Amino acid sequence: MKKVLVTGSLGQIGSELVTRLRKDLGLNNVIATDLRKIEGSPIVEEGVFETLDVMDQEAFLKMAKKHKPDMIVHLAALLSATTEKNPKLGWKLNMDGLINALDVAKEIGAGLFAPSSVAAFGPDVDFQNTPQDTFMHPTSMYGVTKVAGELLMNYYYTKYGVDTRSVRFPGLMSYKTEPGGGTSDYNVDMYYQALLKGEYECYLKAGTYMDMMYIDDAIDAIVNLINADSKKLKHRNAFNLAPFTAEPEMLATSIRKHIPNFKLNYKIDPVRQAIADSWPDHMDDSAAREEWGFKAKYSLDDITEVLLRELTIKFKKQGKL
Ligand code: SER
Repeated sequence: MKKVLVTGSLGQIGSELVTRLRKDLGLNNVIATDLRKIEGSPIVEEGVFETLDVMDQEAFLKMAKKHKPDMIVHLAALLSATTEKNPKLGWKLNMDGLINALDVAKEIGAGLFAPSSVAAFGPDVDFQNTPQDTFMHPTSMYGVTKVAGELLMNYYYTKYGVDTRSVRFPGLMSYKTEPGGGTSDYNVDMYYQALLKGEYECYLKAGTYMDMMYIDDAIDAIVNLINADSKKLKHRNAFNLAPFTAEPEMLATSIRKHIPNFKLNYKIDPVRQAIADSWPDHMDDSAAREEWGFKAKYSLDDITEVLLRELTIKFKKQGKL
């Protein structure tokens, strides 16, 4: 992989992936794109940035032909809670965007990475050790788009030879972008509010387990998978990734090691609770470990330390602390 085009590059994953790829490949070999252009953002200002609507197939192809990437990382998508509020829009954006990205990759002979999610599973799987290959019967529209996306990527691989690669991400934890739109992102918001207010009102019940992962481990995973030897990959749908499982009280306990008076309250959002209840508690990620050497470095307490430290710096700069 020498030159990468990233869609949705101002989002939670994109903003950190672009920074990493610019370091690895050089500024001119990373084409960051997004529907929006945020003036002042380092993603926009510090390298190649283009506005791109992934729903516009013609514009997408034109841009790809201009820059000639050998890999497209397609991140533009709606998250689970936003999709559940507007299922048809979620279906349209997530599916049309992906098939456009696949067609562009096919046309220019590039590989394609697009993430799937823990949301691709439904309530009929083993929640404690969800296998790599099992039933895929999600009950959220976001999950439906993720399963359909996995199948589509597999189809383009077998039918057209497009080098597709994917992972099922758990709830990602990071500090650079604002939380919102997902079901798992209480795991970011709790840290924001712990510092700003000393308390947090959680929209998921205590005991709602799901896998979690630090953003640097997620970025390493993408970089390692897109660089992995194609012959070693048996799975072309999407690899389970699950460094650790956690629930709201565990995050609060970890935060209290730094902010002893932190209070966790609950006000359940039935939409997001239903989505979270339909997801596995913990996936089996041995296929990712075996086929391309996946390994995560950060534990929950490591992440808490980084998030509280970095968010303090960010809030002080913004005059919020
Ligand atoms: N973390 C995402 C969400 O909550 C799922 O992939 O929407």
